[in-house]
Amino acid sequence: MAERILVIDDDIVNLKIAEHVLEKDYNVTCAKSGMEGIDILKSNDIDLVLLDLYMPEMNGMDVLAKIREDASISAVKVVILTSSGMKTDVTEAIRLGALDFIKKPFFPTEFLDRIKKVLNIAKKDNILVVDDDKMNLAIVHKMLGIRYDVTCVSSGMDAISYLNNNVPDMILLDLHMPEMNGLEVLEKIREQDNLSDIPVVFLTADNDRKTEIDIFKAGAMDFIQKPFIAEVVIQRISRILELYHYQKSLQQEVDRKTAELRESNRKVTNVLSQMIMALGSAIDAKDAYTNGHSERVARYSGELARRMGKSTQEINDIYYIGLLHDIGKIGIPDYIINKAGKLTEEEYELIKNHPNIGADILSSITEMPGISFGAHWHHERFDGKGYPDGLAGEDIPEVARIICVADAYDTMTSKRVYRDILPQKVARDEILKGRGTQFDPVIADYMLEMIDEDTEYQLHE
Ligand SMILES: [Fe+2]
Repeated sequence: MAERILVIDDDIVNLKIAEHVLEKDYNVTCAKSGMEGIDILKSNDIDLVLLDLYMPEMNGMDVLAKIREDASISAVKVVILTSSGMKTDVTEAIRLGALDFIKKPFFPTEFLDRIKKVLNIAKKDNILVVDDDKMNLAIVHKMLGIRYDVTCVSSGMDAISYLNNNVPDMILLDLHMPEMNGLEVLEKIREQDNLSDIPVVFLTADNDRKTEIDIFKAGAMDFIQKPFIAEVVIQRISRILELYHYQKSLQQEVDRKTAELRESNRKVTNVLSQMIMALGSAIDAKDAYTNGHSERVARYSGELARRMGKSTQEINDIYYIGLLHDIGKIGIPDYIINKAGKLTEEEYELIKNHPNIGADILSSITEMPGISFGAHWHHERFDGKGYPDGLAGEDIPEVARIICVADAYDTMTSKRVYRDILPQKVARDEILKGRGTQFDPVIADYMLEMIDEDTEYQLHE
């Protein structure tokens, strides 16, 4: 529902102009005098009053004072309409809680913009004022009391105990106080996490450079000179609060977006890992005898990586690369993969092509360039006598050297078409024999360590 605006102005032309500009966006009521305006206010729910300052009988300031005196209407927002050239008693109007001053004649767009801003001021901000001088507290309270929720305390200790249970939107802090001065209070405030970013403004009669530097060094937002000039105090405070709320909402927005991004990242990562798992199962399903081979090779590779001191992220990557190492077998006819008898030379050449096929398939995943390394080079040998490229030593990517050891171990410790599971000792001897020739010696040592720890010979199950 549109917000309700009451325009109080003795000049009919002004009323008509304001009504014309506002009526598209708001519910507008007009009053030609202060008395009429107050009557309307009392019997209607009004969100904002636009108040002409110069009217006969009862001028704008009198109307404003009357509004603030009457508890049933005192909370209404008021914006003062002033005429250029006339001297306005801004200080008193601000003290009475006028939220803005708009000069007539006004530009409609700017006028609407300012009205919108005032209507958007939602709750009253809480301001804690700390000053050992009761007179100063009273002055500040009088200046700010209508616009803000003001809490006054007269010592640093009282401020600290208030802050243990309350988080204000701003703190006004007297610099010179007995026992605990303003800078000491600020130091204590900054120690508390929930108070660390609340704007603190110092109140001081000092006007030397050193005080200014000390105040800003301590992390204050600003300082206000005593004796106070209401207009300056209110303008400064409202600017700082506006900035503070803006920063806060910006931070909330950043936090919200970050959480969203994290969640969508998590989903993408999950989908990716589920797809790789599904692919791994698809590869294993092709070979009836070595079912589960890809998953076991992935598991051994991950464990080797862990023992080698890799990070969690690297271990995960190596696990997935291990899962996909035989993906090229998808391109080899089933009858060759599942053949019970000895392979012909031609069939063997076809099988030997699975690393290249695998590398081709995975090369399309450009976001993870390393994902094809395992599939491509897990049949290379450390001495350079492997295939498909005859790479040697550290020219073979480390992940492929890891998978090579894991793959050999699983081949020996799982049932084949032509033989049963080999005894653990035979598998161990083969790894030891291949150390430095077929396998990277360091990785082979980690494999030997794993075998030796597996006293029940259960690793392969
Ligand atoms: Fe293979």
